[in-house]
Parts: sequence; C-alpha cells; structure tokens
Amino acid sequence: MEVYSEKNQLKAFLKSFKAKGFSVGLVPTMGALHEGHLALVKKALENNERVVVSIFVNPTQFDNKEDLLKYPRTLESDVELLKTVSKDKICVYAPTVEDVYEGNAVSKNFEFDGLEFEMEGKFRNGHFNGVGTIVKRLFEIVKPHDAYFGEKDFQQLQIIKKLVEKHNISVNVIGCKIHRETNGLAMSSRNTRLKPEYAKAAPFIYKTLKSANEKFGTKSANKVSEWVEKQFAKHDLLELEYFIIADAKTLKPIKRKSKKKAYRAFIAVYADDIRLIDNIALN
Ligand code: PAF
Repeated sequence: MEVYSEKNQLKAFLKSFKAKGFSVGLVPTMGALHEGHLALVKKALENNERVVVSIFVNPTQFDNKEDLLKYPRTLESDVELLKTVSKDKICVYAPTVEDVYEGNAVSKNFEFDGLEFEMEGKFRNGHFNGVGTIVKRLFEIVKPHDAYFGEKDFQQLQIIKKLVEKHNISVNVIGCKIHRETNGLAMSSRNTRLKPEYAKAAPFIYKTLKSANEKFGTKSANKVSEWVEKQFAKHDLLELEYFIIADAKTLKPIKRKSKKKAYRAFIAVYADDIRLIDNIALN
C-alpha cells in the first residue's frame, strides 16, 4: 500500500489512474482509525476503483492546544488496519503540516449560511473554519469523485455539503451512518483515551438519546431537553455540555414541532477531559 507524505507524489500517482478513467474516492480522517472509518473506506471502495485515505491531524480545527497535542497519532497501525480492507486499491496521504499548508497553517473564513454558528460552532471557536480550510484543500489536492464523511459529525457533514455547494466544487459528498460499539457508544478516535470507568459509563450517552427519541413522540422538545438535562445532572461521571433538538436541515433549535420537518437530537458530553459527541434522527 502506498503511503505518501507529499502531495506531489500523491498527485502523480493518481494521475495515471485518472487517465485510465478510474474514479477516485476520498475518505478524510485524522487517523487513529477504527471500524467506523473502515466502514467509510468500504463504502468508498464500492463506488470507486481507488480510494485515498487522508490521515492528518489538522491543527487549524483545534481551539484547544491540549486536545491537539493529545490527539492520538498511530500511522503505522492505521496503515495495517487499512491493509485488512484492501492492499492494492487504497492509498494513504499522511502529509506534514508544511506539505498541506505550505507555510501558512491558518484557517480561511467561511460562510456556511449560519450552520457554523449552531452547536459545535458555539463551543469550539473557529472549528468549522479549520475544517472547511482543510477539507477544501484536500479536495483541491485529490480532486476526488466522491468524498465520505460519518454522520457522527452530522453538523460537519452538513457544512461540507454547504462548502461544496457554495464553492462549486465538483465532488459528491456522501454521508455514512454512525458506527457504534456493541454497547451503543458511537465509535470515535477519542474513545481509546477513555479511562476504564468512563468507558463503562459512556454508553449512557446513546441510551439517553434513544430514550429522548421515544419521548419526542409525545412530548415537546423543551420537555425532552429538560428530561435529558436531569439524567446527566444525576450522573456521577458524565457532564453534559449541550443537548439540542434541531431541524435536521438548518440545524436551528426547534421552536415548534411540524410533521413536515425532520429533526435530530445532538449531544456533547465530557467524560473526564474527553469530549464525546453523538446524535440521533428523531422519528
Ligand atoms: O472528521 C474528521 O476527522 C475531521 O474533521 C476531518 C473531516 C478529517 C477534517 O480534518
């Protein structure tokens, strides 16, 4: 499996495939790969002859230095894991900051029609400008036909769709369902950093989301939110940062329920110093 740290090498490699009319899929990641990432890669392989997996811990999307420093970096085992999916159809782009940003590792300012001001946008300063900057850059380098993103970061997925629409980028953005541990916890590279007692407690997040979904059938969004807040107030280990029921399209918090609209519940929780997010489609 080819692993490129330089974009020019990657581009040269892809050129020969593209010349043959092969379609190339892109799975952008920050590494510490797990089954959730592999599901994206498998989906990308169903639709494309070649798949580029980018592995890059993007500094411009972190507003917290500590979080950036502690982010797991496991390139060797990531490559081994990818080889279990395919040895010859996947290549890895694992660049340095210099290779991607060319001496200018700062975010550009984007306008995502307000999507960027909700939820994660409120709690992670500059995060979506950083995501927009790196994803646009990766699209420019790889020029993929399709790009695959997990629904765990549902807001990110909507923002990337908006980025593509606003900048007329020729790529199909494909969202993939959340991959969960058997205990329900949404798979995340951060899960490996959970201390045992927190790892044991964390499935409570999805359990509460599922109950919230049931309650939303008969109760107002406010009542459901109050109930969720109470559950976390009673919890010894997990600290709720936000629980929000929002319009699945605009991501604006719900005002009044309408049968015609799709809603989603979003949650961010601290398990010790590890921040976990999750979401669920509401019926
Ligand atoms: O979801 C992620 O892992 C990152 O935000 C992404 C899309 C790879 C950009 O750095």
